[in-house]
Amino acid sequence: MTTPGTRPLALVTGASSGLGLEFARLLAAEGWDVALCARSHDTLEAIRGELEQDHGGQAYVLARDLSRGSEVDAALADVRALARPLDLLVANAGIGLHGPYLDTDAAAERDMLHLNVESTVGLVRGVLPDMVARGQGRILTVGSVGSFTPGPLMATYYATKAFVLSYSDALAEELTGTGVSVTCLCPGPLPTPFLERAGARSSGAAARGMVETRAVARAGLDAALAGRRRVVPGWLNKLSAVLPRWLPRTLMAKLVHRVQASRR
Ligand SMILES: NC(=O)c1ccc[n+]([C@@H]2O[C@H](COP(=O)([O-])OP(=O)(O)OC[C@H]3O[C@@H](n4cnc5c(N)ncnc54)[C@H](OP(=O)(O)O)[C@@H]3O)[C@@H](O)[C@H]2O)c1
Repeated sequence: MTTPGTRPLALVTGASSGLGLEFARLLAAEGWDVALCARSHDTLEAIRGELEQDHGGQAYVLARDLSRGSEVDAALADVRALARPLDLLVANAGIGLHGPYLDTDAAAERDMLHLNVESTVGLVRGVLPDMVARGQGRILTVGSVGSFTPGPLMATYYATKAFVLSYSDALAEELTGTGVSVTCLCPGPLPTPFLERAGARSSGAAARGMVETRAVARAGLDAALAGRRRVVPGWLNKLSAVLPRWLPRTLMAKLVHRVQASRR
């Protein structure tokens, strides 16, 4: 077994599924120890076993509900208790909520705001001072192509992702020269449980534009480790990200409305 401390350490949130699981697998395969955070304790334990068996090194399970502020603090305390520096934070955990605004559940919307926005801020604020003091560290946040436009039928979700992108871009600029970088990964639709959990179905149009989940995780990690500020994987997604620069926002809202309506 590898001695703890000789490998770099990453914290990956939302590591039990989808993009987060791919981040964790890629990192472990590349010699990182990984702290795995999500709510599903048993799933995380199984992933810990898989990573340690396949790649050696250490994986740690942090079963936390990050939609609660106290659990964000507890997750940060869990990482501190490892008594080793954190080299990479992947603030990936996020949920969506699909449907006409007044039909969506207010409590579910609050949980989404807490998870997508507040936990991202809480985790970054928690790890940043140490990284800056050490003069090194990487932070990878997960926005969306929805970060660039209003999102009728997923209004609050798109707004959370606009927040993540704006916050990440601003911090990246402030942190220039500190040795710490902030990168925002902005994926398009992915074949993960995300859309179904959000109450949407993946339309044929969305499926055609889908980039494989592992390739998206790869692109995010490469960008983060290279200290780049933003990455939008896939040509169709790149187009979706630049269109809002040229089209009026009202037209973008109409276009997204049609896409989201096709997912009902
Ligand atoms: N899939 C897409 O089409 C798409 C497109 C653009 C951006 N994204 C973004 O990509 C990120 C990952 O999404 P995904 O597609 O991989 O979705 P996913 O497969 O549904 O994974 C979501 C992850 O977040 C965790 N999670 C959910 N609620 C949580 C909570 N309260 N506390 C802690 N962890 C929680 C889930 O684990 P537990 O249920 O075990 O807690 C799971 O590990 C999200 O930020 C999402 O907004 C996704």
